Amino acid sequence: MAAGKVFIFDTTLRDGEQVPGCKLNTKEKLELALELEDLGVDIIEAGFPISSPGDFESVNQVARAIKNATVCGLSRAVQKDIEVAAEALKHAARKRIHTGIGTSDYHIRSKFNSTREDILERAVQCVKWARNFTDDVEFYAEDAGRTDNEYLARVVEAVIKAGATTVNIPDTTGYCLPSQYGQKMAYLINHVPNMDKAVLSCHCHNDLGLATANSIEGVIAGARQIECTINGLGERAGNTSLEEVVMILKQHKHLGLHTSIKPERLNPVSRLVSDTMRMPVQPNKAIVGSNAFSHSSGIHQDGFLKDAQTYEIINPEEVGADSSKIVLTARSGRSALAYRFQKLGFQFDRNDVDVLYNEFVKVADSKKEVEDTDLHAMALSYQKKAPVASTGS
Ligand code: KIV
Ligand code: ZN
Repeated sequence: MAAGKVFIFDTTLRDGEQVPGCKLNTKEKLELALELEDLGVDIIEAGFPISSPGDFESVNQVARAIKNATVCGLSRAVQKDIEVAAEALKHAARKRIHTGIGTSDYHIRSKFNSTREDILERAVQCVKWARNFTDDVEFYAEDAGRTDNEYLARVVEAVIKAGATTVNIPDTTGYCLPSQYGQKMAYLINHVPNMDKAVLSCHCHNDLGLATANSIEGVIAGARQIECTINGLGERAGNTSLEEVVMILKQHKHLGLHTSIKPERLNPVSRLVSDTMRMPVQPNKAIVGSNAFSHSSGIHQDGFLKDAQTYEIINPEEVGADSSKIVLTARSGRSALAYRFQKLGFQFDRNDVDVLYNEFVKVADSKKEVEDTDLHAMALSYQKKAPVASTGS
């Protein structure tokens, strides 16, 4: 394995599917899993098999169908959960059991009414049990973001000794600052003697809008797996967005980190997930939002039309998006207006555009966006008054 490879663990079908209204049936999960495999994700978390017979069936079908990616099933640190996950995954070409328990004092006291020593013992037992079914066992320390680092390091060391091959450090509540999350990873790398025997994984939630930043800090500090979802779907404010982390690592090559994702599939897969889960993507969403490659202010449009790189760090084709758009609003300028007329087949010179611009801003002030039909009407009326000035289609 190359040192700079970051594994992409996609949890759209598990954490993403927990979003109210996003529930998927088996056929839908299967279709999305095949797309995720084609996208190039390394691990697909297909579901939580003990949660319902329907989800057991979905994980089972995904496990049978996927050939290249690892298929993963979630479980609590409960023997029966682990057995059911193992049963659901039994036909997978590569299978992973993801098991774990809350390690913060909030979880230990309020959720489990327990002690740190007891939780550490339960963590070790669940990993040992899961190892009876597969060599690929991932342990999650739920609410690791708010877990005391010294105790977390003891848990991580113990679960690796028990056979965990990946250790997930979830910021379950989205609490950490990027620097804190990065320092947590660095602390584990420096204080867990057997850390080199397992992959450290980032699993961040977006309650403060920091999930992507935290995951990136995590891999800069030395983690080598990011758990993420298409469109950033997930509990509450969502999870780390897959498309964002992939493109950040691609843009910032100096980090020396890369993934196996095919970037040109990002927009098609985003649309498929949005349609299948009936969950619209916010227009200003990075990489996959409908405005991600739209330019509307005059200053930006002028710069963009002179050289796209002035205002775009990513070519939309690279991420499978429609080509960049010059949107006409009351904030747009003459260059954009001339460009849009030109696209409609009207060749206006500078003086024509000056006259037309006065008409344009009046129309633009009266509506949100000036459309091609408005431009046609403007151009034809102008041509009637000055018939020799231009040609139009
Ligand atoms: O956010 C979280 O802690 C989780 C775990 C179950 C991995 O989703
Ligand atoms: Zn989560």
